[in-house]
Amino acid sequence: MELMQAIRGRRSIRVFDGRPIDRPVLEEIVGAASYAPSRMNVQPWHFHVATGEARQRVAAVMAMTTAYLQEYVDVLGPEHVEHAARFYADLGGAPVIIGISSPRDDDVFEARDFAISVGAAIQNLLLAVEDNGLGACSLSVPVWIRDQLAEVFEVDAEWEIMSLIVMGHADESPHPRDRHTDVVTFLT
Ligand SMILES: Cc1cc2nc3c(=O)[nH]c(=O)nc-3n(C[C@H](O)[C@H](O)[C@H](O)COP(=O)(O)O)c2cc1C
Repeated sequence: MELMQAIRGRRSIRVFDGRPIDRPVLEEIVGAASYAPSRMNVQPWHFHVATGEARQRVAAVMAMTTAYLQEYVDVLGPEHVEHAARFYADLGGAPVIIGISSPRDDDVFEARDFAISVGAAIQNLLLAVEDNGLGACSLSVPVWIRDQLAEVFEVDAEWEIMSLIVMGHADESPHPRDRHTDVVTFLT
């Protein structure tokens, strides 16, 4: 697949048909993430790939989110909350859930560079997913269950969970979403 085609064609996928992903494919996808740039090549990331029973354990923790979502009903509206709750109940049936952790750092600038590096790794990963004809969605770590997720993903105490990726064979094909067009200023 052409790179630009993958960049433009990628969509967040939240419904999966449940078929597993072969280990070599997973290794290729996570390997692509590890080729991302990072400040001074620190590579501040670790990928915790949960499949099988581990996936069930992570999904059970994520399902706890549904109770907290109700707190946002006034902000998001009942329809959005219901939709999100349905998704978080079993993460769209994704057979693979990846936790991405990064070293904790009190220095705000260092922490920001870690976050930027992890973001670059996530995009590499998502494009590799696209290239393999699969689907994925990057998820924020729900703040209420941060500690439980760190435990279930077996994250080192000096590290913290930054993001989650759910992945599998897509069982939906959402239309492209609009992008802002006024985001560039050319200076000459
Ligand atoms: C940092 C980040 C956090 C996100 N968190 C969530 C999330 O918690 N739940 C969710 O359903 N999607 C989440 N997404 C996916 C976005 O909703 C999605 O990327 C955006 O709506 C654009 O749609 P597209 O990815 O299909 O182009 C997240 C994406 C990013 C980059």
